[in-house]
Amino acid sequence: MKIIDLRSDTVTLPTTVMREAIYCAELGDDVFGEDPTTNRLEKMAAERVGKEAAMLVASGTMGNLVCILTHCARGEEAILGDQSHTFPYEAGGISALGGIHPHTVRNQPDGTMRLEDIKTSIRGNNVHFPRTRLICLENTHNRCNGAAMTPEYTDAVVALSKERGLSVHLDGARVFNAAVALGIDVRELTRGVDSLSFCLSKGLSAPVGSVVCGTSDFIAEARRTRKVLGGGMRQAGIIAAAGIVALQQMVDRIEEDHKNARRLAEGIAHIHGLSIDLASVQTNIIYFDVVTDRLKAEKLVTELGKRGIKLLCVGPSRLRMVTHYGISSEDIDLALAALAEIMANV
Ligand SMILES: Cc1ncc(COP(=O)(O)O)c(C=O)c1O
Repeated sequence: MKIIDLRSDTVTLPTTVMREAIYCAELGDDVFGEDPTTNRLEKMAAERVGKEAAMLVASGTMGNLVCILTHCARGEEAILGDQSHTFPYEAGGISALGGIHPHTVRNQPDGTMRLEDIKTSIRGNNVHFPRTRLICLENTHNRCNGAAMTPEYTDAVVALSKERGLSVHLDGARVFNAAVALGIDVRELTRGVDSLSFCLSKGLSAPVGSVVCGTSDFIAEARRTRKVLGGGMRQAGIIAAAGIVALQQMVDRIEEDHKNARRLAEGIAHIHGLSIDLASVQTNIIYFDVVTDRLKAEKLVTELGKRGIKLLCVGPSRLRMVTHYGISSEDIDLALAALAEIMANV
Protein backbone atom coordinates (compact mmCIF):
# COMPACT_ATOMS: atom_id res chain seq x y z
CA MET A 1 0.00 0.00 0.00
CA LYS A 2 1.28 3.47 -0.86
CA ILE A 3 1.81 5.58 2.28
CA ILE A 4 0.96 9.28 2.09
CA ASP A 5 2.40 10.77 5.24
CA LEU A 6 0.88 14.17 6.03
CA ARG A 7 1.68 14.18 9.76
CA SER A 8 4.60 16.59 9.52
CA ASP A 9 7.33 17.94 7.26
CA THR A 10 9.79 16.29 9.68
CA VAL A 11 9.14 12.97 7.90
CA THR A 12 10.94 14.17 4.75
CA LEU A 13 13.78 11.96 3.56
CA PRO A 14 17.07 13.27 2.16
CA THR A 15 17.33 13.71 -1.60
CA THR A 16 19.79 11.72 -3.72
CA VAL A 17 22.01 14.80 -3.98
CA MET A 18 22.03 15.06 -0.18
CA ARG A 19 22.97 11.38 0.18
CA GLU A 20 25.84 11.85 -2.28
CA ALA A 21 26.98 15.00 -0.47
CA ILE A 22 26.95 13.12 2.85
CA TYR A 23 29.00 10.30 1.33
CA CYS A 24 31.61 12.66 -0.10
CA ALA A 25 31.71 15.21 2.76
CA GLU A 26 35.12 16.47 3.82
CA LEU A 27 35.31 16.00 7.59
CA GLY A 28 37.21 17.12 10.68
CA ASP A 29 36.58 17.63 14.40
CA ASP A 30 33.99 20.38 14.69
CA VAL A 31 34.54 20.91 18.43
CA PHE A 32 38.05 22.04 17.40
CA GLY A 33 36.40 24.13 14.65
CA GLU A 34 38.07 21.88 12.06
CA ASP A 35 35.18 20.40 10.13
CA PRO A 36 35.33 22.15 6.74
CA THR A 37 31.81 21.12 5.71
CA THR A 38 30.25 22.38 8.95
CA ASN A 39 32.23 25.60 8.66
CA ARG A 40 30.93 26.03 5.11
CA LEU A 41 27.31 25.44 6.12
CA GLU A 42 27.59 27.88 9.02
CA LYS A 43 29.06 30.61 6.80
CA MET A 44 26.42 30.02 4.15
CA ALA A 45 23.58 30.04 6.71
CA ALA A 46 24.76 33.25 8.37
CA GLU A 47 24.97 35.02 5.00
CA ARG A 48 21.59 33.68 3.93
CA VAL A 49 19.80 35.16 6.96
CA GLY A 50 21.95 38.30 7.17
CA LYS A 51 23.75 37.58 10.45
CA GLU A 52 27.45 37.64 11.35
CA ALA A 53 27.75 34.03 12.44
CA ALA A 54 25.95 30.72 12.72
CA MET A 55 26.26 27.36 14.47
CA LEU A 56 24.90 23.92 13.62
CA VAL A 57 22.84 22.19 16.31
CA ALA A 58 21.16 18.82 16.48
CA SER A 59 17.52 19.93 16.37
CA GLY A 60 15.06 22.80 16.43
CA THR A 61 14.49 22.17 20.12
CA MET A 62 18.22 22.43 20.80
CA GLY A 63 18.39 25.59 18.67
CA ASN A 64 15.74 27.35 20.73
CA LEU A 65 17.18 26.03 24.00
CA VAL A 66 20.75 27.11 23.19
CA CYS A 67 19.59 30.59 22.19
CA ILE A 68 17.24 31.19 25.12
CA LEU A 69 19.84 29.86 27.60
CA THR A 70 22.42 32.16 26.03
CA HIS A 71 20.17 35.22 26.31
CA CYS A 72 18.81 34.63 29.82
CA ALA A 73 20.35 33.83 33.21
CA ARG A 74 18.62 31.75 35.90
CA GLY A 75 15.56 33.46 37.32
CA GLU A 76 15.20 35.75 34.33
CA GLU A 77 12.11 35.80 32.21
CA ALA A 78 11.39 35.09 28.56
CA ILE A 79 8.12 36.30 27.03
CA LEU A 80 6.69 33.79 24.59
CA GLY A 81 3.39 32.92 22.95
CA ASP A 82 1.10 30.51 24.77
CA GLN A 83 0.84 28.54 21.51
CA SER A 84 4.55 28.74 20.70
CA HIS A 85 6.38 25.47 20.09
CA THR A 86 8.83 26.27 22.88
CA PHE A 87 6.14 26.56 25.54
CA PRO A 88 4.23 23.27 25.34
CA TYR A 89 6.44 21.12 23.09
CA GLU A 90 10.05 21.45 24.21
CA ALA A 91 9.73 19.53 27.46
CA GLY A 92 10.02 22.68 29.58
CA GLY A 93 13.74 22.72 28.77
CA ILE A 94 14.26 26.42 29.36
CA SER A 95 12.97 26.00 32.94
CA ALA A 96 14.38 22.54 33.60
CA LEU A 97 17.89 23.28 32.36
CA GLY A 98 18.15 27.06 32.52
CA GLY A 99 15.93 28.11 35.44
CA ILE A 100 14.29 30.53 33.02
CA HIS A 101 10.79 31.72 33.83
CA PRO A 102 8.43 31.52 30.82
CA HIS A 103 5.92 34.37 30.73
CA THR A 104 3.24 33.46 28.22
CA VAL A 105 1.29 35.96 26.17
CA ARG A 106 -1.77 34.93 24.19
CA ASN A 107 -1.11 34.13 20.55
CA GLN A 108 -3.68 35.48 18.13
CA PRO A 109 -4.94 33.09 15.41
CA ASP A 110 -2.41 34.65 13.01
CA GLY A 111 0.47 33.72 15.33
CA THR A 112 1.18 37.25 16.52
CA MET A 113 1.12 38.45 20.12
CA ARG A 114 -0.53 41.87 20.46
CA LEU A 115 2.08 44.56 21.08
CA GLU A 116 -0.08 45.84 23.94
CA ASP A 117 -0.04 42.38 25.52
CA ILE A 118 3.73 42.13 25.17
CA LYS A 119 4.12 45.61 26.69
CA THR A 120 2.03 44.80 29.74
CA SER A 121 3.92 41.57 30.31
CA ILE A 122 7.32 43.29 30.53
CA ARG A 123 8.19 43.50 34.23
CA GLY A 124 8.95 46.72 36.04
CA ASN A 125 11.99 47.12 38.24
CA ASN A 126 10.63 45.62 41.44
CA VAL A 127 12.32 43.18 43.78
CA HIS A 128 9.30 40.87 43.62
CA PHE A 129 9.52 40.28 39.90
CA PRO A 130 11.77 38.19 37.72
CA ARG A 131 13.74 40.34 35.28
CA THR A 132 12.36 40.27 31.74
CA ARG A 133 15.21 39.60 29.32
CA LEU A 134 13.83 38.22 26.09
CA ILE A 135 10.86 38.16 23.70
CA CYS A 136 10.43 35.02 21.57
CA LEU A 137 8.65 34.94 18.22
CA GLU A 138 7.83 31.98 15.96
CA ASN A 139 7.61 32.26 12.15
CA THR A 140 5.89 30.42 10.57
CA HIS A 141 3.68 29.66 13.52
CA ASN A 142 3.11 25.93 13.79
CA ARG A 143 0.06 25.86 16.10
CA CYS A 144 -1.47 29.00 14.60
CA ASN A 145 -2.24 27.51 11.19
CA GLY A 146 1.34 27.74 9.93
CA ALA A 147 0.85 31.51 9.71
CA ALA A 148 3.56 33.69 8.20
CA MET A 149 4.26 36.85 10.18
CA THR A 150 5.19 39.95 8.20
CA PRO A 151 8.44 41.94 8.39
CA GLU A 152 6.37 44.90 9.67
CA TYR A 153 5.14 42.89 12.65
CA THR A 154 8.61 41.51 13.42
CA ASP A 155 10.12 45.00 13.16
CA ALA A 156 7.48 46.39 15.52
CA VAL A 157 8.32 43.77 18.16
CA VAL A 158 12.03 44.44 17.66
CA ALA A 159 11.45 48.21 18.09
CA LEU A 160 9.55 47.57 21.32
CA SER A 161 12.33 45.30 22.57
CA LYS A 162 14.98 47.95 21.89
CA GLU A 163 12.91 50.60 23.70
CA ARG A 164 12.79 48.33 26.74
CA GLY A 165 16.36 46.99 26.59
CA LEU A 166 15.30 43.44 25.70
CA SER A 167 16.47 40.93 23.11
CA VAL A 168 14.38 39.07 20.52
CA HIS A 169 14.78 35.42 19.57
CA LEU A 170 13.01 34.02 16.52
CA ASP A 171 12.04 30.36 16.36
CA GLY A 172 12.35 30.25 12.60
CA ALA A 173 12.00 26.48 12.28
CA ARG A 174 10.08 27.24 9.07
CA VAL A 175 11.22 30.80 8.41
CA PHE A 176 11.92 29.94 4.75
CA ASN A 177 8.28 28.88 4.38
CA ALA A 178 7.33 32.33 5.70
CA ALA A 179 9.66 34.12 3.27
CA VAL A 180 8.41 32.08 0.30
CA ALA A 181 4.75 32.60 1.26
CA LEU A 182 5.28 36.37 1.58
CA GLY A 183 7.41 36.51 -1.56
CA ILE A 184 10.29 38.26 0.21
CA ASP A 185 13.95 37.69 1.05
CA VAL A 186 14.25 35.85 4.35
CA ARG A 187 16.50 38.66 5.64
CA GLU A 188 13.45 40.91 5.86
CA LEU A 189 12.14 38.57 8.54
CA THR A 190 15.42 38.20 10.41
CA ARG A 191 17.04 41.66 10.13
CA GLY A 192 16.13 42.95 13.58
CA VAL A 193 16.19 39.83 15.72
CA ASP A 194 19.13 39.14 18.00
CA SER A 195 19.07 35.40 17.38
CA LEU A 196 17.20 32.88 15.33
CA SER A 197 17.10 29.17 14.85
CA PHE A 198 15.96 27.57 11.59
CA CYS A 199 15.51 23.91 10.77
CA LEU A 200 17.22 22.02 7.97
CA SER A 201 15.22 18.90 8.72
CA LYS A 202 11.67 20.10 8.05
CA GLY A 203 10.53 21.72 4.79
CA LEU A 204 14.16 21.76 3.59
CA SER A 205 14.25 17.97 3.78
CA ALA A 206 17.69 17.38 5.32
CA PRO A 207 17.82 14.36 7.64
CA VAL A 208 19.09 16.15 10.78
CA GLY A 209 19.91 19.58 12.10
CA SER A 210 19.08 23.19 12.73
CA VAL A 211 21.21 26.31 12.58
CA VAL A 212 21.31 29.14 15.12
CA CYS A 213 22.38 32.56 13.89
CA GLY A 214 23.30 35.89 15.46
CA THR A 215 26.24 38.20 16.08
CA SER A 216 29.73 36.69 16.32
CA ASP A 217 29.76 37.39 20.07
CA PHE A 218 26.38 35.73 20.56
CA ILE A 219 27.41 32.62 18.60
CA ALA A 220 30.71 32.40 20.52
CA GLU A 221 28.72 32.30 23.74
CA ALA A 222 26.14 29.94 22.22
CA ARG A 223 29.00 27.49 21.46
CA ARG A 224 29.64 27.23 25.19
CA THR A 225 25.93 26.67 25.85
CA ARG A 226 25.78 23.98 23.15
CA LYS A 227 28.80 22.25 24.76
CA VAL A 228 27.10 22.28 28.17
CA LEU A 229 24.11 20.56 26.60
CA GLY A 230 26.31 17.86 25.10
CA GLY A 231 25.67 19.21 21.65
CA GLY A 232 29.27 19.63 20.51
CA MET A 233 29.44 17.17 17.63
CA ARG A 234 32.66 15.91 16.08
CA GLN A 235 32.55 14.99 12.34
CA ALA A 236 29.37 17.03 12.05
CA GLY A 237 30.01 17.55 8.34
CA ILE A 238 28.02 14.36 7.80
CA ILE A 239 24.98 16.40 8.85
CA ALA A 240 26.13 19.74 7.44
CA ALA A 241 26.68 18.29 3.94
CA ALA A 242 22.95 17.65 3.57
CA GLY A 243 22.22 21.05 5.12
CA ILE A 244 24.25 22.78 2.41
CA VAL A 245 22.21 21.03 -0.28
CA ALA A 246 19.04 21.97 1.62
CA LEU A 247 19.93 25.66 1.49
CA GLN A 248 21.09 25.51 -2.13
CA GLN A 249 18.32 23.42 -3.65
CA MET A 250 15.31 23.10 -1.39
CA VAL A 251 14.19 26.64 -0.56
CA ASP A 252 12.60 27.64 -3.85
CA ARG A 253 10.61 24.42 -4.20
CA ILE A 254 8.75 25.14 -0.93
CA GLU A 255 6.25 27.03 -3.11
CA GLU A 256 5.05 23.65 -4.38
CA ASP A 257 4.27 22.53 -0.80
CA HIS A 258 2.22 25.68 -0.27
CA LYS A 259 0.28 25.04 -3.50
CA ASN A 260 -0.39 21.47 -2.42
CA ALA A 261 -1.58 22.66 1.01
CA ARG A 262 -3.98 25.08 -0.68
CA ARG A 263 -5.26 22.34 -3.02
CA LEU A 264 -5.79 20.08 -0.01
CA ALA A 265 -7.57 22.80 1.97
CA GLU A 266 -9.85 23.72 -0.93
CA GLY A 267 -10.76 20.06 -1.38
CA ILE A 268 -11.52 19.67 2.31
CA ALA A 269 -13.76 22.75 2.18
CA HIS A 270 -16.00 20.85 -0.28
CA ILE A 271 -16.36 17.73 1.85
CA HIS A 272 -19.56 17.54 3.88
CA GLY A 273 -18.86 17.04 7.60
CA LEU A 274 -15.46 18.76 7.50
CA SER A 275 -14.77 22.43 8.14
CA ILE A 276 -11.71 24.53 7.34
CA ASP A 277 -10.94 28.23 7.46
CA LEU A 278 -9.47 28.75 4.00
CA ALA A 279 -8.29 32.24 4.86
CA SER A 280 -5.95 30.78 7.47
CA VAL A 281 -4.07 28.63 4.95
CA GLN A 282 -0.84 30.43 4.06
CA THR A 283 1.96 27.88 4.04
CA ASN A 284 2.32 24.09 4.30
CA ILE A 285 0.39 23.45 7.54
CA ILE A 286 -3.39 23.13 7.56
CA TYR A 287 -5.81 22.47 10.41
CA PHE A 288 -9.41 21.38 9.94
CA ASP A 289 -12.33 20.09 12.02
CA VAL A 290 -14.76 17.24 11.88
CA VAL A 291 -18.16 18.87 12.31
CA THR A 292 -20.47 15.88 12.56
CA ASP A 293 -21.42 14.04 15.77
CA ARG A 294 -21.20 10.76 13.92
CA LEU A 295 -17.41 10.75 13.68
CA LYS A 296 -14.57 11.67 16.04
CA ALA A 297 -11.28 13.01 14.70
CA GLU A 298 -9.44 9.97 16.10
CA LYS A 299 -11.68 7.61 14.17
CA LEU A 300 -11.02 9.57 10.97
CA VAL A 301 -7.27 9.11 11.59
CA THR A 302 -7.83 5.35 11.96
CA GLU A 303 -9.95 5.12 8.81
CA LEU A 304 -7.47 7.12 6.74
CA GLY A 305 -4.64 5.01 8.19
CA LYS A 306 -6.30 1.89 6.74
CA ARG A 307 -5.99 3.58 3.34
CA GLY A 308 -2.31 4.49 3.85
CA ILE A 309 -2.92 8.13 4.70
CA LYS A 310 -1.36 9.51 7.86
CA LEU A 311 -2.28 12.75 9.63
CA LEU A 312 -2.28 14.09 13.18
CA CYS A 313 -5.22 14.32 15.55
CA VAL A 314 -4.73 17.47 17.66
CA GLY A 315 -8.07 17.66 19.50
CA PRO A 316 -11.40 15.78 19.81
CA SER A 317 -12.53 17.20 16.47
CA ARG A 318 -9.36 18.83 15.17
CA LEU A 319 -6.80 17.48 12.71
CA ARG A 320 -3.57 18.64 11.14
CA MET A 321 -1.99 17.90 7.78
CA VAL A 322 1.38 19.14 6.54
CA THR A 323 2.63 19.09 2.95
CA HIS A 324 6.30 18.61 2.11
CA TYR A 325 8.89 17.33 -0.36
CA GLY A 326 7.56 13.76 -0.09
CA ILE A 327 4.03 14.75 -1.16
CA SER A 328 2.93 15.27 -4.77
CA SER A 329 -0.26 16.83 -6.13
CA GLU A 330 -1.43 13.27 -7.02
CA ASP A 331 -1.01 12.34 -3.34
CA ILE A 332 -3.23 15.29 -2.42
CA ASP A 333 -5.93 14.02 -4.79
CA LEU A 334 -5.68 10.51 -3.34
CA ALA A 335 -5.96 11.90 0.21
CA LEU A 336 -8.99 13.98 -0.78
CA ALA A 337 -10.67 11.02 -2.47
CA ALA A 338 -10.15 8.91 0.68
CA LEU A 339 -11.51 11.69 2.90
CA ALA A 340 -14.56 12.14 0.67
CA GLU A 341 -15.26 8.40 0.64
CA ILE A 342 -15.02 8.09 4.44
CA MET A 343 -17.16 11.17 5.06
CA ALA A 344 -19.82 10.04 2.58
CA ASN A 345 -20.29 6.87 4.62
CA VAL A 346 -20.59 8.20 8.18
C1 LIG B 1 8.00 25.88 15.27
C2 LIG B 1 8.86 24.76 15.74
N1 LIG B 1 9.95 25.03 16.47
C3 LIG B 1 10.77 24.07 16.90
C4 LIG B 1 10.53 22.75 16.60
C5 LIG B 1 11.44 21.69 17.15
O1 LIG B 1 12.20 21.07 16.16
P1 LIG B 1 12.85 19.62 16.42
O2 LIG B 1 11.75 18.64 16.24
O3 LIG B 1 13.91 19.53 15.36
O4 LIG B 1 13.41 19.61 17.77
C6 LIG B 1 9.40 22.41 15.84
C7 LIG B 1 9.13 21.01 15.52
O5 LIG B 1 8.18 20.66 14.83
C8 LIG B 1 8.54 23.44 15.40
O6 LIG B 1 7.44 23.19 14.68
